[in-house]
Amino acid sequence: MNEKLQSINLNNVPRHIAIIMDGNGRWAKGKGMQRVFGHKNALTAVREAVDASKQIGTKFVTLYAFSTENWNRPKLEVDALMSLLVSALKKELPEFHKKGIKVNSIGAVDQLPKTAQKTLQKVIEETQNNNVITLTFALSYGSREEIVNAIKNISKKVVNNEIDVKKIDEKIINNHLYTFNLPDVDLMIRTSGEQRISNFLLWQMAYAELYFTDVLWPDFRQEDLFDAVINYQNRERRFGKTSEQIGTDV
Ligand code: IPE
Ligand code: IPE
Ligand code: MG
Repeated sequence: MNEKLQSINLNNVPRHIAIIMDGNGRWAKGKGMQRVFGHKNALTAVREAVDASKQIGTKFVTLYAFSTENWNRPKLEVDALMSLLVSALKKELPEFHKKGIKVNSIGAVDQLPKTAQKTLQKVIEETQNNNVITLTFALSYGSREEIVNAIKNISKKVVNNEIDVKKIDEKIINNHLYTFNLPDVDLMIRTSGEQRISNFLLWQMAYAELYFTDVLWPDFRQEDLFDAVINYQNRERRFGKTSEQIGTDV
């Protein structure tokens, strides 16, 4: 058995891991190639991250694949990313079934090209009864856009007397986010050495542990996910309390 995997306490694994898959462009450049070459080589890393999460028993993995801001990239790159998304989803469908992966998406997916929307919808429908792990792709996702959208939908319900303003609470807001069916993020991993959130799951990461690694996304392997989880397990999640209160101050 893998040495790193062995040192993980399986009774304390993050339930929800979110990953900002960053560094594809730099990885390609480092090899003297075009940026798109990096995106093409990102799929292995996705498989490794999901397989590693599955091995430790994490039930939810969310991958930041395309942000609302990424629409501002050169058209050639955006088009390449969209067609890679379609081909990757098609290619992976048998694997999703074999591994019990339920595919989900968050974001303004209606902004994606029609073919991407159709493929995504098909994969989501066909995998909906799988229950080993929920793999969520954040596509055309922006946390601020998500919050704006939630406020609009809640406001409409207030106007229609479906929601009483006095009853608006965190639960109601949660239920109007794209992530309504996902638990809060426990561990957020960002590759490529950048230490920022880039408009990802702002609400859902309120109490997540953040882990940054210099590894560029196409190089990310199971061991790297295990490293992140080991690091996570060495932290104390206090949620505002003191060490004494949670009984770790010995
Ligand atoms: C992450 O890699 C993939 C997407 C944002 C789609 P980048 O394309 O951001 O790679 P760098 O950050 O330029 O190296
Ligand atoms: C964040 O990466 C979005 C995804 C990984 C899909 P970026 O590379 O676009 O982030 P910034 O713009 O450098 O913060
Ligand atoms: Mg980047």
